[in-house]
Amino acid sequence: MKGKGGAPKNPREVATAILNALPETTAIDGTPTLAGPGFINIKLSSAFLSNRLQTMITQGAGTWAPSLPYKRAVVDFSSPNVAKEMHVGHLRSTIIGDTIARTLEFCGVDTLRINHVGDWGTQFGMLIQHIAETRPGGLQGTTTEEVADLQALYKASKKRFDDEEDFKARAREAVTRLQSGDPEFLETWKRICEASRNEFDAIYQRLDVQILWRGESWYNPRLTPLVEELIERGIAEESEGAMVITVEGQKTPLMIRKSDGGYGYGTTDMATLNQRIHDEKGEWLIYVTDEGQSGHFKLVFGAGKRAGIIPAEKPPRIDHVGFGLVLGQDGKRIRTRDSGAAVRLVELLDEAKARCETSIKERQEATIERGGEELSAEELDNISSVMGYGAVKYADLKNNRSTNYKFNFDEMLDLKGNTAVYMLYAHARIAGIIRKGKKDVAEVAKTAHISLDHASERALALHIVRFTEMLEDTLVELAPNRITEYVYELSNYFNTFYQACKVLGEKEEDSRLLLCEATAMIMRQCFQLLGIKPLYRI
Ligand code: ARG
Repeated sequence: MKGKGGAPKNPREVATAILNALPETTAIDGTPTLAGPGFINIKLSSAFLSNRLQTMITQGAGTWAPSLPYKRAVVDFSSPNVAKEMHVGHLRSTIIGDTIARTLEFCGVDTLRINHVGDWGTQFGMLIQHIAETRPGGLQGTTTEEVADLQALYKASKKRFDDEEDFKARAREAVTRLQSGDPEFLETWKRICEASRNEFDAIYQRLDVQILWRGESWYNPRLTPLVEELIERGIAEESEGAMVITVEGQKTPLMIRKSDGGYGYGTTDMATLNQRIHDEKGEWLIYVTDEGQSGHFKLVFGAGKRAGIIPAEKPPRIDHVGFGLVLGQDGKRIRTRDSGAAVRLVELLDEAKARCETSIKERQEATIERGGEELSAEELDNISSVMGYGAVKYADLKNNRSTNYKFNFDEMLDLKGNTAVYMLYAHARIAGIIRKGKKDVAEVAKTAHISLDHASERALALHIVRFTEMLEDTLVELAPNRITEYVYELSNYFNTFYQACKVLGEKEEDSRLLLCEATAMIMRQCFQLLGIKPLYRI
């Protein structure tokens, strides 16, 4: 039975039509068959697989990047708040966002990485007022260094804000003075931002994350004109003195102007949408925050559509990438042992690194006893940070991003599990085999042929060539755990191969060295996307 215009109607018919239209190709061995409700079974020829691997080795893993229908993307991630400590929630946003951005960049998409720092909230009123009242030099005499201990400053002023009614009133006045551009207040605000920024930058540097600081305050001059336009066009309407935009299917509307005339989180995000689509020409916008903000983004995207900021024709792809909580061993939000405060990111990174250092040192002692080479202090330091930070990233990325996960050092530093440490050792081991072969693999790749005669060689090759498909899935779902799953399986396929097939000294040596090289290259490419540096020798 055919549908309209002779088009096939059911899955089996579609499959048959595809089968009949398959061109002659050397990529497929034997005859493709139809199975079940409409599956097509094909067997890729070994010649095809080896050819793919060989060109990848000579031309680089970049040639395997999927091509995407987007030229420019904007990824909003990390986005901590000034004067508050960057905590593990921001860690998730930072590493998930970084991996998404790296993946887009790998696919040739021009990607703008934006740090939507909370640098314009009401917390500044109380901070500035507190400085003005307690520092001997007042606002004028205060330096960036003097506000460097922002946490203490935040704590002290918050306490006064909560306890002292008249301080609260003065802090509110201070917000107004700041927002209306009082030069002295602005100067202090800048100092506070600078001190925060120094702290954040130190973390980005450790994590090897590039990001453009474009905080909430940056959108300031754009808010009034935008809000006025929305009111004029009748998109925004009054509700109890405030201006709101109602969105179909959403219970609460999006507030774009508070009853006191001030602007909030919703207003700024209408501005980010507008700026990123029309000025930045973003064809794909991504916002990475905790899942708790998904309601906010539904409202913003809905209001953006209603207002025509998101064009009806050829709209950009827009995603809110939400993620779950980081939990402590007790299954509750992770807290520090002593104060119960949110865990500071720096402390986690320090501890991960320190633990790696201890365990590498222990293993080193055994190596030296066996007459092996000792690592220099510099090497030890480098390996410990690569492993420690890599472990924290990997442990985060390997989870389905929308679920909560338990933060556990022992698990993430496990030498045998699905961890960065295990992967880094796997890579170093392959690098060691290639080193021992003492051959220039790039040269070997030009002439030698990869024979995939053993089943484990074929299985490994088949997995390697699925790299592109894996990246496509990663981007459809915006799920970095696709990459970690793939790379973990890659190491398993490699282990099976290496147990079954000797590499050095065999007649298949060249062919197998190339298989090792292809594995290592794709592994490194996955590491690069995960923001993990490879190690060649541990
Ligand atoms: N600063 C916010 C937070 O700490 C995240 C901002 C996310 N980006 C955005 N455009 N709203 O939760």
